[in-house]
Amino acid sequence: MAQAPVNVTVTGAAGQIGYALLFRIASGQLLGANTPVKLRLLEIPQAVKAAEGTAMELDDCAFPLLQGIDITDDAKKAFDGTNVALLVGARPRAKGMERGDLLAANGGIFKPQGEAINAGAADDVRVLVVGNPANTNALIAQAHAPDVPAERFTAMTRLDHNRALSQLSAKLGVAVTDIKKLTIWGNHSATQYPDLFNAEVNGKVAAEQVEQEWLREDFIPTVAKRGAAIIEARGASSAASAANAAIDHIYDWVNGTPEGDWTSAAVVSDGSYGVPEGLISSFPVVSRNGRYEIVQGLEIDAFSRERIDASVKELTEERDAVKQLGLI
Ligand code: NAD
Ligand code: LMR
Repeated sequence: MAQAPVNVTVTGAAGQIGYALLFRIASGQLLGANTPVKLRLLEIPQAVKAAEGTAMELDDCAFPLLQGIDITDDAKKAFDGTNVALLVGARPRAKGMERGDLLAANGGIFKPQGEAINAGAADDVRVLVVGNPANTNALIAQAHAPDVPAERFTAMTRLDHNRALSQLSAKLGVAVTDIKKLTIWGNHSATQYPDLFNAEVNGKVAAEQVEQEWLREDFIPTVAKRGAAIIEARGASSAASAANAAIDHIYDWVNGTPEGDWTSAAVVSDGSYGVPEGLISSFPVVSRNGRYEIVQGLEIDAFSRERIDASVKELTEERDAVKQLGLI
């Protein structure tokens, strides 16, 4: 029997990440080569026409797996029956703008979207927030979807994870596939902590294969500030690499992570590693039976502890700020 199509909602569909993402979803890279998809594109009214243009191009690809495209500016319609919700639409950070400034600008978008997911999404809905500040936007959406299990709300740190893999592979002259168990902890921001102490390269501790000065002064800031460096260079925030990371995040969530490895995702904390319960923070995660689970029992040395705590403190401050704005 032919498989039923999976409903995939993409917000901010006419934006630059949307443009890099939609064709990959429709070609089968999000869910697998045998899974048909129906796309729902959510945009603000002024950008619906541009989304229609992208939909025309999707049609022109004649993707065998694409079974329909709906375009709307109504969040309720966009999330009705949705199985996978990619919340990309937000205001990107412009040159010189602090991420904190984005909280108020973006917070209002994610409350109604959380409510719409709560009202109409499919029972198995999985939500990935890409739009910044991603962790806190995910927290806002989750707070307004009390009937959806909290674990279904995640935020994207897979791009940071992939950036860290790439930097380390270049440093050591190894393949990215030789690196395992790398972790991004905390917030998708400059305070994030890419952890090489629990990571392995060809079975040996990664942190012991690089100079400590490189780790502290080069690797960590390069990964943590990569988003800003790309904005500086392109004049716009990362798009194709962000879309690629979103594909990786959902593909692994649905299909599982490989044995002997883990990945990074911002998920609702259960109090693991001293991260306050309820915060959406990045952790080492495995995906088993369609669920992301936090990897337990890792040793956290004093150096790592300090950095994880700093990023979690920032998340706590963001949470307190949106609480004050009445957004959660
Ligand atoms: P963009 O400006 O090109 O596109 C954003 C789109 O969202 C626009 O088309 C806009 O009309 C739409 N939009 C705005 N409000 C909306 C709403 N309420 N409902 C539906 N659509 C809405 O931006 P982009 O480059 O595609 O980036 C999108 C977001 O992703 C930004 O917040 C950016 O900072 C973030 N981002 C996150 C990561 C990550 O790793 N988590 C990486 C890169 C970018
Ligand atoms: C990125 O990491 O590339 C983006 O989150 C940067 C940004 O602020 O849009």
